[in-house]
Amino acid sequence: MTEPRARRIFVAGATGVTGRALLEAAAAQKMRVLAHARPSSVAKLGPAGAAHDVVTVDLGDAAGLTAALAGVTTIVQCIGTMKKRFAAGDTYESSDIGTTQQLVDAGRAAGVDHVVLLGSVGAGGVGAYLKAKARAEAIVRESGMAWTIFRPSVLIGEDRGGVPGFGAVTRLLGMKKYQPIKVEQLAGALLLCARERAPLGVALEGKPLWQLVARGLG
Ligand SMILES: NC(=O)c1ccc[n+]([C@@H]2O[C@H](COP(=O)([O-])OP(=O)(O)OC[C@H]3O[C@@H](n4cnc5c(N)ncnc54)[C@H](OP(=O)(O)O)[C@@H]3O)[C@@H](O)[C@H]2O)c1
Repeated sequence: MTEPRARRIFVAGATGVTGRALLEAAAAQKMRVLAHARPSSVAKLGPAGAAHDVVTVDLGDAAGLTAALAGVTTIVQCIGTMKKRFAAGDTYESSDIGTTQQLVDAGRAAGVDHVVLLGSVGAGGVGAYLKAKARAEAIVRESGMAWTIFRPSVLIGEDRGGVPGFGAVTRLLGMKKYQPIKVEQLAGALLLCARERAPLGVALEGKPLWQLVARGLG
């Protein structure tokens, strides 16, 4: 019988709020991941970066990215942007959609066998952000690789707070799908999914997402 491949995880968007929480969760589990950062952002990794391998390849460099992904089993795509950052050059087209396509193309060439996409609840709904999330999902679904999509609601952590009272209302009404999620909870669930290569072929939101969160926190 063939031995299952030992997991080697590439974290795209490692300098972001969720990406850094993921690095911390992995370090706490004594797991070394390959963290991707843009050259100008490496310092943002802070202490979270010290326990991991760091790569700064331009995601638009197909050959370079494919080489960087050698030996990687799993891509966890945490890249995304927001409207207030458009002035600095990032857009939904370049960050949310473009980098997903670049990662999927290079991942397939490099033999990656699992792509985990951090998307959003409401993907495909009204507005450019949710439309972009649906396009990123489609890229992953059609990648030819096994995939898992996360569709969390509002993130809580660092400078993220959500709308005051929103969490209480969602809990009161039993709206699990819209319940705000702490980045540590999300990071634990992403890491568990990446480590176990499961569940596959599902977009996780609501109850199944919260079940994974509970397991991810051990
Ligand atoms: N915030 C929420 O409430 C919420 C809710 C549901 C889902 N989400 C989604 O969850 C994901 C992670 O959110 P977050 O709040 O953790 O993100 P974040 O803190 O805003 O970080 C975004 C990450 O994406 C990277 N990035 C952006 N454009 C890039 C590009 N063109 N090339 C390479 N890297 C690029 C950033 O790198 P730099 O450091 O170099 O800028 C950073 O590492 C996003 O897709 C977001 O849409 C967010």
